[in-house]
Amino acid sequence: MTAQLAPSILSADFGRLAEEIAAVERGGATVVHVDVMDGHFVPNLTIGPPVVRSLRKATRLPLDCHLMIENADRYLDAFVDAGASWISLHVEALVHLQRALAHLRGRGVRAGVALNPSTPLSALEELLPELDYVLVMSVNPGFSGQSFLPGSVEKIRRLRAAIQQRGLSVTIEVDGGVDVGNARLLCEAGAEVLVAGQAVFGQADPEAAARRLLEAAR
Ligand code: DX5
Ligand code: ZN
Repeated sequence: MTAQLAPSILSADFGRLAEEIAAVERGGATVVHVDVMDGHFVPNLTIGPPVVRSLRKATRLPLDCHLMIENADRYLDAFVDAGASWISLHVEALVHLQRALAHLRGRGVRAGVALNPSTPLSALEELLPELDYVLVMSVNPGFSGQSFLPGSVEKIRRLRAAIQQRGLSVTIEVDGGVDVGNARLLCEAGAEVLVAGQAVFGQADPEAAARRLLEAAR
């Protein structure tokens, strides 16, 4: 299966988001990854529903909102109403995760769970059948441009095996330090959506960088 590329706008020029997204779409990106941070769950602040609403008008690509926030359940409808297509919630940040996921699916968005590098796959045991996707973090969330944690490859391999064993169709997305050097390995391990910030928007020509990354993943 060919991987999908989801460039993270965290590394883009926020004053030119529409143009930046158009460029990576020309380069083959099929999802836009939106990192939402609150300064509590992670030590950084980024963007919220108003920006998602503007992005919704700027592109037809699905908007993949990665919520790195506390009390995410209070904001689900705001993100859905703003135009989020996929929403991932951190298992470490939400107690009533099952309820939030059911709510998202009821509202017609793809619902995912994100796992920090130190969170074991066993945290997904009860949830796996209710998920559209799992976001495996290959850095500790908070910033773009961090080094890839190599243990993530084996984690993805084990997750892929668990999904297959249970006869489920859950997509695996990987986020953090993805680049031309590890894209192929990640896809072989079972990743189907590659998130990349620095390796796309951090490059002089994001369109060409997106194309290179997709070629490397093949
Ligand atoms: C990290 C974010 C990532 C980040 C990826 O907290 O969730 O989506 O922007 O950036 P790179 O690819 O530069 O690690
Ligand atoms: Zn992310």
